Amino acid sequence: MSNLIWGLILLVFSAFFLNLDAFELRKGQKTERISGSAGDVLEDDPVGRLKVFVYELPSKYNKKILQKDPRCLNHMFAAEIYMHRFLLSSPVRTLNPEEADWFYTPVYTTCDLTPNGLPLPFKSPRMMRSAIQLISSNWPYWNRTEGADHFFIVPHDFGACFHYQEEKAIERGILLLLQRATLVQTFGQRNHVCLKEGSITVPPYAPPQKMQSHLIPPSIPRSIFVYFRGLFYDVGNDPEGGYYARGARAAVWENFKDNPLFDISTEHPTTYYEDMQRAVFCLCPLGWAPWSPRLVEAVIFGCIPVIIADDIVLPFADAIPWEDIGVYVDEKDVPNLDTILTSIPTEVILRKQRLLANPSMKQAMLFPHPAQPGDAFHQILNGLARKLPHDKSVYLRKGEKVLNWTAGPLADLKPW
Ligand SMILES: *[C@@H]1O[C@H](CO)[C@@H](O)[C@H](O)[C@H]1NC(C)=O
Ligand SMILES: *[C@@H]1O[C@H](CO)[C@@H](O)[C@H](O)[C@H]1NC(C)=O
Repeated sequence: MSNLIWGLILLVFSAFFLNLDAFELRKGQKTERISGSAGDVLEDDPVGRLKVFVYELPSKYNKKILQKDPRCLNHMFAAEIYMHRFLLSSPVRTLNPEEADWFYTPVYTTCDLTPNGLPLPFKSPRMMRSAIQLISSNWPYWNRTEGADHFFIVPHDFGACFHYQEEKAIERGILLLLQRATLVQTFGQRNHVCLKEGSITVPPYAPPQKMQSHLIPPSIPRSIFVYFRGLFYDVGNDPEGGYYARGARAAVWENFKDNPLFDISTEHPTTYYEDMQRAVFCLCPLGWAPWSPRLVEAVIFGCIPVIIADDIVLPFADAIPWEDIGVYVDEKDVPNLDTILTSIPTEVILRKQRLLANPSMKQAMLFPHPAQPGDAFHQILNGLARKLPHDKSVYLRKGEKVLNWTAGPLADLKPW
C-alpha cells in the first residue's frame, strides 16, 4: 500500500476515534486498570495515600551544583531536580518526619556534565555516600530501617550502578548503601544487576514546553511509515561493532537503509519533532542502555513506538498499557522488521493511535512545571503509595546493622 493511502486512511479514522477519548478518559477515572484489557492509563490520585518527608541538605548537594551548570535543567536526567522542586510544594509533603511514610534525600548526583553535555557518573557514589552519612547522623530515621523507607532518584544510564558502560556498571553493581532503599530510575531491564526488585522505572526528562512548541495540526497525515534518527554504530566506543546496541541498530541500518518505507538516518534534522508527528512507527531501539528519550517523544507525538530492547522494563508499566500502545520486536528479529510492521492489521494500528492520543498517556510521560494531575511526578507517588504499608520487617532491632559502610570500591570510600 502506498504511503499516501496509508496517510489518508489513518487521517480519516483518527479524527473519528479522537472524539471518543475524552469520554473514555472521564469514565475511566479512579478505576483500576486490568492489565492489557482496558488500554487506559491507571488514574490514581496519590494525595492522601502517602506522606513524604524531604530532608533539608546543605545546598552543595543540590542547588549549588545546579548553579554551576544550569544545563542540568534541560538534560534527560533532570527528573532528579524537578522531583525535588515538586515535592517541596506537594500536598503529600509532611514537615513532621514522625508521620512520614517515605523519606526523600534531594541530592543531584547526575548533574556533572562534560563541556559537550555528556553526564559523568564518577563523583556520584561519593556524593551519595556523603549525603547518606549526613542524614544518618543528623536524623534517627535512616538507622531505623537503613534506608528501607527512603527513596532516591537515580536517573543515570544504569541507575545506581553509576557507570555508562554496561560491563562496568554490572561490575560495580548497585551502590551498597542503597541496597535497602527504593530506587526511582530510568534504567529498566529484567534480571539485570542494576535493576533492584521494587524499583520504580520512570521516563527520562524531555522538555515539555519545547515539545509543545513543535506540535503540528493533527490533521496532517502520517505519510512516513517508519522513522528513526540516531546512531547505528558507535565507532569511537565500539570500533569492532556488535557491542553498541548489541548490534540491533547496525541491523536496522544494514537491512533497511534502502527500503523506501524506512526514513532512517544519523542526521538529526531541525524538523525532528515534526517528522515524528508525520510518522506511523517510530523506532525505539536500545543504545548503550535500553532506554532513551525516543519513547517519550513517540508517545507525545502520537507515533507508535517500536520497542527493540529485549527484557526492557518500561516506565510505570503497572499504570500504562504499553503492550496495547507499542510494538515489541525482539532484537534477533530486526532483519524482519519490514514484514513485522507491514503485517500489522490497519485496525490494530488505528487502535494504538487512538490510545496514544489519550492525553493522560502523554501526561504520564512528562515532568511539567508546575506539575499537573496524572503527570510523571504523580505516577511516581502512586508507585510509592502502592508499596505501603511497609512490612514490619523493614524496621531493624535496636543495634542491628545490615549495611557495611566500608565495603565497595576503595575510590568510592574517599570523602566527597
Ligand atoms: C546511626 O548509626 C551510625 C553507626 O552506624 C552512627 O554513627 C550514627 O550516629 C547513628 N545515627 C544516629 C542519629 O544515632
Ligand atoms: C565490611 O566490608 C569490608 C570490606 O569488604 C570487610 O573487610 C569487613 O569485614 C566487612 N564488615 C563486616 C562486618 O562484614
